[in-house]
Amino acid sequence: MGQGLLRFPVLKRDVRRLAFGCEPLGGFNWGDVDIPAIEAAVQDALDAADTHAPMLFDTADTYGPHLSEERLGRCLAGQRDRAVVASKFGVRLTDGRAWYDTSPAYADRALDASLERLKMERLDLYQLHWPDTVTPLATSFAALERFREEGRIGAYGVSNVAPADLASLAADFPGLSSFSLSYSLLDRDDEVEIAALCDAGLVFLPYGCLAQGLLSGKYGAGSVFGAGDRRASPKYRNFHGDRLQRNLRIVEALKSEATALAAPAPAVALAFVLAGFDRCIPLAGIKSGDQLNQCLGALDIALPDESLARLQKVSET
Ligand SMILES: NC(=O)c1ccc[n+]([C@@H]2O[C@H](COP(=O)([O-])OP(=O)(O)OC[C@H]3O[C@@H](n4cnc5c(N)ncnc54)[C@H](OP(=O)(O)O)[C@@H]3O)[C@@H](O)[C@H]2O)c1
Repeated sequence: MGQGLLRFPVLKRDVRRLAFGCEPLGGFNWGDVDIPAIEAAVQDALDAADTHAPMLFDTADTYGPHLSEERLGRCLAGQRDRAVVASKFGVRLTDGRAWYDTSPAYADRALDASLERLKMERLDLYQLHWPDTVTPLATSFAALERFREEGRIGAYGVSNVAPADLASLAADFPGLSSFSLSYSLLDRDDEVEIAALCDAGLVFLPYGCLAQGLLSGKYGAGSVFGAGDRRASPKYRNFHGDRLQRNLRIVEALKSEATALAAPAPAVALAFVLAGFDRCIPLAGIKSGDQLNQCLGALDIALPDESLARLQKVSET
């Protein structure tokens, strides 16, 4: 199998080792978002499935809310087989405020609603988005196992759960196929535990691999984001205060590796993630065909050992 493909367990399908992050397709609080440009990029990715394997498209009911799923569903009409489609449940919104609910009853309703918006009968991968504080993971996974037996989903995954909390559960749930956490050159927590879960057979779907765009190399200390862009908020800590100063040193190192490799910085940032774990498909939030192509360039980069070592060292602290 080439370095650009991975056989997705349970689904038994080959997918490209870069996933199309569909949160910008929802259009909410992501700054300057040109929806037709993202939809054109989705079509480019679908067309490429004829010569490569399909990409995994990662959406969620809460992106938009609902709009990312609805738009993706429209893009996929008549070409469902050219994509592996993942969605998520568990983040609910009431009067604009988010809260978490991963109870089986809610998961059941949320799955039906996602399938309706996506205009499909079966999701390839259904992910628990954020754990709530009351439903044991095993209870949610038992419901997801049932949805798989019913044929409404092909496999399921989980995100934002500490790897240590998953290790003991993985063996009991045969449909559990993936886990997702924030991971990038700027945010390298839990590498040993992540590798152990990959060794146990799960696929790692890291998000934030471009640090919400900071690792593209186009932002600096003077960058200003508008009120409709989440990166203006201190919650997006990569863009603020001491953390930003530390990050910009790492971005400079990334840019010099990129120059030496004659590759774009975002592709090298994604190649760093790919080099870290064999069973990993990084998610990249995509806003245009150009961004998609640059990000897919990561699949052609064999990061030399010395480059990898320098990037590991500069990002250690
Ligand atoms: N499971 C979870 O809890 C969770 C959480 C967050 C995200 N996700 C998923 O992960 C995906 C990735 O999202 P993320 O929020 O983590 O963002 P990210 O992938 O770290 O960054 C995405 C942003 O980087 C910029 N960018 C992307 N490609 C670029 C390129 N080639 N050149 C220059 N800039 C580029 C774009 O913004 P600008 O052009 O505006 O800079 C884009 O919106 C989401 O879409 C979603 O599917 C999952």
